[in-house]
Amino acid sequence: MADLSAKVGSLDFATPVIAASGTYGYGLEFDGLVDWTGFGGVSVKGISSEPCDGLAAPRMVETPAGMLNAIGLQNIGVEAFLSDKLPRLSSLPIRVIVNVWGNSPEQYEDVVERLGDADGIDAIEVNLACPNRKEWGTIFACDPKLVATVTARLRKKTRLPLWVKLTPNVSDITEPAKAAAGEGAEALSLINTLRGMAIDPESRRPLLSNTTGGLSGPAIKPIGLLMTYEASRAVDVPVVGGGGVASGRDVAEYLLAGASAVQVGTVNLFDPSAPHRIGRELDRFLDEQGVAAARDLVGALEAPAG
Ligand SMILES: Cc1cc2nc3c(=O)[nH]c(=O)nc-3n(C[C@H](O)[C@H](O)[C@H](O)COP(=O)(O)O)c2cc1C
Repeated sequence: MADLSAKVGSLDFATPVIAASGTYGYGLEFDGLVDWTGFGGVSVKGISSEPCDGLAAPRMVETPAGMLNAIGLQNIGVEAFLSDKLPRLSSLPIRVIVNVWGNSPEQYEDVVERLGDADGIDAIEVNLACPNRKEWGTIFACDPKLVATVTARLRKKTRLPLWVKLTPNVSDITEPAKAAAGEGAEALSLINTLRGMAIDPESRRPLLSNTTGGLSGPAIKPIGLLMTYEASRAVDVPVVGGGGVASGRDVAEYLLAGASAVQVGTVNLFDPSAPHRIGRELDRFLDEQGVAAARDLVGALEAPAG
């Protein structure tokens, strides 16, 4: 067996495989249904100050090698999360990452403050990258200045490790990456979904009630790899990579590109045991390659052949 342990800033993980926010509920729904071995952690559905109903249905549509979603960050709100979810979630044998969002810097501060330094939270992941919030006007993570402002303000509000989640909807990922790292992000998570749309040609209508949504799944893996590669070379904080991961081999690719850990999203929607399977596949891949530890792959990409 290979050593699967991973390190992201100050946190050690049993494996580099983390279930991505929005694709694993609040984590505990799956307790008793899945084998937690192979999981490094779960990032819970994005939490806001107040409960949020999200957008109207239809909110998901399949696309070639992926899907579009426009959930609109539906969640139960920070108070219910702390009282109804966190106590049981924190007893599971996995790291707990709490993904948060707001419609303004003040709302981000409010949710982070109310999470406090609650027992059982290992890190806060700040989602600055949702493509489905009309209230934002633009995706916050498209604007490096806004990334810097929100990161700096939140850094003062918690002692927990702060991960900042970035969007691929930019021409140069290194700019927001440097902005977050420069203001105290302990790690960067990338990528969130890419903006997209789907149309029914018979009805001549968009397939999502929101018209546009976020593209995820295997279709976006080459973009996630590129952004992980570029961001991890531009900053000296760890990158938690992801986008389209569905196998242990995919995890190895992200580690080679420079990720210290890897998020697994869309595949969970049709196979909630995917992180367990992917952890086992990574182990087998490392054994086959004669690699002693997953960490040995981080950033170990070789120059192109020829
Ligand atoms: C249905 C759905 C809901 C999501 N909700 C969130 C969310 O609340 N917060 C967040 O930061 N990312 C959210 N994401 C983005 C994922 O965490 C992940 O970054 C993205 O889907 C790319 O990974 P994948 O291709 O493996 O799905 C969501 C994705 C999907 C498919």
